[in-house]
Amino acid sequence: MHLAFDLMRGLERALADAAAAAGIEPGAFEPGVRTSDPRHGDFQANGVLAAAKRAGKPPRPIAEALVAGLGDDIRVAFEVSVAGPGFINFKARPAALLSWLQAHRSRAGLELGASAAHKGETWVVDYSSPNTAKQMHVGHLRSAVIGEAISRLLEFTGARVVRDNHIGDWGTQYGKLIWACRRHLDEAALARDPIEEFERLYKIGSSAAEADPAVMEEARAELVRLQAGDPVSLALWRRINEASLAAFQRIYDRLGIRFDETLGESFYNDKVERVYAELSADGISSMSEGAQVVFHPEHPRFKTQPMIVRKSDGAANYATTDLATILYRSEHFHADGILYVVDKRQADHFEQLFLTARKWFVRRGRPIPKLQHVDFGTVLGEDGRPLKTRTGDNIKLRELLDEASERALALVNAKSPDFPEDERRRIAETVGVGSVQYADLSQNRSSDYLFSWDKMISLEGNTAAYLLYAIARIRSIFRRHGLECGDPAAESGADAFQTPDEIALARKLVKFSDAIRLATETLCPHFLCLYLYELAGEFSAFYNADKVIVDDPAVRARRLVLCARTLLFLETGLSLLGLRTLERM
Ligand code: ARG
Repeated sequence: MHLAFDLMRGLERALADAAAAAGIEPGAFEPGVRTSDPRHGDFQANGVLAAAKRAGKPPRPIAEALVAGLGDDIRVAFEVSVAGPGFINFKARPAALLSWLQAHRSRAGLELGASAAHKGETWVVDYSSPNTAKQMHVGHLRSAVIGEAISRLLEFTGARVVRDNHIGDWGTQYGKLIWACRRHLDEAALARDPIEEFERLYKIGSSAAEADPAVMEEARAELVRLQAGDPVSLALWRRINEASLAAFQRIYDRLGIRFDETLGESFYNDKVERVYAELSADGISSMSEGAQVVFHPEHPRFKTQPMIVRKSDGAANYATTDLATILYRSEHFHADGILYVVDKRQADHFEQLFLTARKWFVRRGRPIPKLQHVDFGTVLGEDGRPLKTRTGDNIKLRELLDEASERALALVNAKSPDFPEDERRRIAETVGVGSVQYADLSQNRSSDYLFSWDKMISLEGNTAAYLLYAIARIRSIFRRHGLECGDPAAESGADAFQTPDEIALARKLVKFSDAIRLATETLCPHFLCLYLYELAGEFSAFYNADKVIVDDPAVRARRLVLCARTLLFLETGLSLLGLRTLERM
């Protein structure tokens, strides 16, 4: 029995074929297959209703004709029935569930099945992208975590992904910072903690500039010197960036993030002239009060509120750089799509940017990449306000991860006091950091979410610790019986699932492909989190009800299939979310 990795897409194809055979014009029928309420089956197609309405015919006979025209492979695999006015229900038969699970026994096999979705496409994912000379704080968490999960999902579904950290390493703040560096730099402090020192210097520079117009002038002159390539200014600027990148890298290592490119804003310095020239030659921009601007007459707000692409003093800004960046990503990486994982407060910027870029590319006859702002909300404290320290400062990401690791250690110590100390610490780092990542990913990204240590580092509920523990538990089943997980010999001779809990678990397992598709299509990792959580729940129910290691070899083999695949899907799923997993916990 051959079943597609993506059962739902397989059913769509089968229904489309049946419709063609029944003489329904292509285009007049959308199968409309979705997962259904488990009481009715596994999948339901509701597309007949709309097609019948358009044709002015009763739906039920059409549904029946389609069902009669389905190929044998589908009828062998599913119980098919017509319900209500013309819904078609599909319920996978136990033998089909087994056969699908036997065909998808390794990560490589899953990847092969999933890769059809984005094969041959190149996606640039712009994420994390902090500004240099500052610590990463809790506000930088979401972009890094969500961006990494999305990159992994796209890769798993076949895309070539270019992970690009678009760091903010250029701009007016460097004038003030370099001004202060030249006067107040403390070499000893710099050696101890460079970012801390640069933050201190920036505060000095910016308050001095605020208090004294003469300093403001000097800071501006510093910026001009830097932009003109003055060697002393450039050397300072390089030091600031190197120290910042080194500090960022320590966070990325803990989060399991590795960028392909770190092309900061400064990389585009020599690429903005082309933006000015083309936009103006194409008549997309106009001049307003000395600045080069783009209006969008068709837009309710941007018809009067322009995007400034060149300031009246001739300087580039955030928008200019972003336009040059789109051009570069499209010409250099041949990007089919570019995703910006950025706070939703920048929605206007991206809307204007995309409108402008599309008009510009159309005028030039360039292929237009798909452009999407993958937005996210704010991390809130338990008081419902943006999360801060008690004294009102931003929480440093490094300290947040340290605290997560510490808190997880308490949980590990309570659970596994007999593990060696260094192993407990390693487990705690995985659980702690994973909990922070997972708490972020399991929420709908566009909403704000409430940061709660107690909920996040808990063995109960939709948490990383719960899933990591489920994995460790399945691993221990295999270890206890001296079995290799996924060993074909242990699974051979399995017969079709029989008990209600076996069947419920198997039906959940074959929906793995739906969860991957949904999370990737919507770029919403929380759909995958929810699936993994429900899968772990189904596994618990099965494991409590049915003994795995029994004498009957056929029963034992089919139950080992369920254990091995639950483990594989939980591990694959968590790794797609960017988490590390554990052998034991
Ligand atoms: N550095 C910016 C910030 O901290 C984010 C950059 C996002 N990426 C982009 N291409 N605009 O707000």
